[in-house]
Amino acid sequence: MPPLLEVKELHTEFRTGAGVVRAVDGISYTVDPGETVAIVGESGSGKSVGALSIMRLIPDPPGRITGGEVWFAGRDLMTLSEEEMRRMRGSEIGMVFQEPMTSLNPVLTIGRQITETLEQHRGMDRAAADQRAVELLGLVGIADAKRRLEQYPHQLSGGMRQRIMIAIALACDPKLIIADEPTTALDVTIQAQILELMQKLTRQLGVALIIITHNLGVVARYAQRVNVMYAGRIVESGAAAALYHNPRHPYTIALLRSVPRLDRPRPPPLAPTGAPGQLSACFRSHELDITAGAA
Ligand SMILES: Nc1ncnc2c1ncn2[C@@H]1O[C@H](COP(=O)(O)OP(=O)(O)O)[C@@H](O)[C@H]1O
Ligand SMILES: [Mg+2]
Repeated sequence: MPPLLEVKELHTEFRTGAGVVRAVDGISYTVDPGETVAIVGESGSGKSVGALSIMRLIPDPPGRITGGEVWFAGRDLMTLSEEEMRRMRGSEIGMVFQEPMTSLNPVLTIGRQITETLEQHRGMDRAAADQRAVELLGLVGIADAKRRLEQYPHQLSGGMRQRIMIAIALACDPKLIIADEPTTALDVTIQAQILELMQKLTRQLGVALIIITHNLGVVARYAQRVNVMYAGRIVESGAAAALYHNPRHPYTIALLRSVPRLDRPRPPPLAPTGAPGQLSACFRSHELDITAGAA
């Protein structure tokens, strides 16, 4: 089966007073239908810009996609018209961002925000959209849907708001969801619930997921494949389990080492030099237990 998404040599730059920043500097990767792929890297490594570039949501100026192709379901998104691209966003490709408060409209009820998407992308009438909204809230585990739909974003908890974002992302039966640090702003216990929910729903509905995170526990537990980003590039990629047990790139090793473990004494600092093989042996001696989902 061909991949659902194929990113090829994508380049995005920002022109700033200090010069040109190559935020995304030639990344290539694929996502298969129904697959969960993680993009992991420290803050500023280009994860968000990479995702926004796929959706063609880079503010221009100062940003510009300067090269590459993004094949999605047989079409290069970079060649679509603005109108075609608008239809693609929110229907074929859903998005979930870090801070739901900024992506939800504060002056519209939860119900209206869901039905608006359905009316826009699916041409549903109000009654059908209302019914679907109730169904979607059930899907994301929100009880008492009728009352919730009449509420405004500020009346809900952070975890609840993120469930709403997931409901909106799923509303039009997308083939792919891009989730950019979807749980970073949430309490630790809520983080796990939201991740479990996304995993359950993407499996149940056969939706592919790109999960962007700096948290390696998330990657280990929820992704099949991982792309490690550093300074605008993918420096390592592979099956999640293999990458954990045998990381090759020093940066990946450093990332793995920086996952805090509260149940073990702090390991000695990692020597910054040395061959990757030596470093990974050193890493292995500290055995990150991925099944426990570090963090
Ligand atoms: N609007 C912008 N103007 C200038 N530079 C930007 C802008 N947005 C992002 N960048 C730069 O692009 C790089 C990658 O940012 P980003 O993708 O947001 O990182 P990440 O999501 O991995 O934390 C950073 O160096 C950042 O400074
Ligand atoms: Mg980001």
